[in-house]
Amino acid sequence: MEKFVINGGVPLHGEVTVSGAKNAALAIIPAAILCRDVCRIENLPVSISDVRYMISTLKYIGATIKYIDRSTIEIDSRNVNSYMISHDMTKHLRASYYFIGALLGRFGKARVAMPGGCYLGPRPIDQHIKGFEALGATISVEDNAIVEATSSKLFGAPVYLDIVSVGATVNIMLAAARAEGMTIIENAAKEPHIVDLANFLNSMGADIRGAGTDVIKIRGTENLHGCTYSIIPDQIEAGTFMVAAAATRGNVLINNVIPKHLESISTKLIECGADIEEYDEAVRVSMTERPGKCNIKTMPHPGFPTDMQPQMAVLLSMAEGTSLISESIWSNRFRYTEQLQRMGARITVDGQIAMIHGVEKLKGAPVKADDLRAGAAMIIAGLCAEGRTEIEDVMHIKRGYENVVEKFSNLGADIRMVYSVDPFDINKVG
Ligand code: EPZ
Repeated sequence: MEKFVINGGVPLHGEVTVSGAKNAALAIIPAAILCRDVCRIENLPVSISDVRYMISTLKYIGATIKYIDRSTIEIDSRNVNSYMISHDMTKHLRASYYFIGALLGRFGKARVAMPGGCYLGPRPIDQHIKGFEALGATISVEDNAIVEATSSKLFGAPVYLDIVSVGATVNIMLAAARAEGMTIIENAAKEPHIVDLANFLNSMGADIRGAGTDVIKIRGTENLHGCTYSIIPDQIEAGTFMVAAAATRGNVLINNVIPKHLESISTKLIECGADIEEYDEAVRVSMTERPGKCNIKTMPHPGFPTDMQPQMAVLLSMAEGTSLISESIWSNRFRYTEQLQRMGARITVDGQIAMIHGVEKLKGAPVKADDLRAGAAMIIAGLCAEGRTEIEDVMHIKRGYENVVEKFSNLGADIRMVYSVDPFDINKVG
């Protein structure tokens, strides 16, 4: 079993380069099957497991993948020949549901197994289905396990999202890109990865306007072609390193970022007393004193990102005073606080609100990564804590952070991955 071992108390110093955005990559990779051509994708976080699963799924349905270098692939989707994706694939990756929109756009039909529920709370897709049906598709959900979408022809239509949903916005864009006529998505998500998907599709010859606002107009295009496209930097990875720099009272230059994507994170770190210097494609974060308290309410972009909530909670657990975090996106995103409490944090959770009474120091302890961003938070906590922290279930972290041990080590962190056998593993024979 892999785990991370951290000896804390070392302020981070130096430079780190952010990889391409996971959530943009997970939307763009399935989009490549909308053309019968070759798409070259650069600045791709090829080594994170979510991207590897997405690429494996493409191969499974007949695409040919060529690895050009450590962050560039070519996807040849001319021979994509299946519209079915089984649970064996989707159980690994929630974002597999993007293949419903992409396969609908390619073949006019899709049969995709739904992944189960997950750690953040229920993951309904009613808004995705609302969009597909508006475009003329017939949707059936078999035993709440398989989504079957069929349409003799997709026609553009207006779709009003009852809730701001990144996934639904992505999926509807994928299906609408090749529908006949105009689709207008209102109350659309505005995350940077939505804009990145629109830019990728437009590079393929699509006609999409308004991405990044709450109204996206997609004029369907029959024939899309291949392209070369570079994925935007990962906003959440950048934010994770920003918080780690501040929480360890270090001084770190974070390269390959788009500062505008980080505004809400920078604002909150400054409120807590950090110094932020912005450059064209980098930010420097430094902090020398104990952080001050601040209140966080997670919101859809451009609000404070829910995917930065656990990381920020670690900083606030050592702040002067009491802070409140209100989680408005997910119903179950405070599980990590139990792990932080093992390290001495004083946090009380009541529904969607966490109250954090800052303590001087956290203490190293054996903890686990409940999910991707909770795992990132455990790394930051371990870097700050006195003594040794061991983090189990690190496979969650490797879903979304490329070369994470190497990147933190290069900033001076005492962190390493170890392989251990659980002596109490009753499944082991003998
Ligand atoms: C995306 O998830 C991200 N994942 C999540 O990041 C992120 O937390 C989330 O957006 C919010 O920003 C990817 O991009 C792969 P939503 P998604 O649809 O699309 C409800 C990470 O750590 N909803 O915007 O699944 C839903 O239950 C991950 O990288 C419906 O009710 O999120 C939630 O409460 C974790 N009906 C809210 O909307 C629907 O049809 C927002 O969900 C769809 C969603």
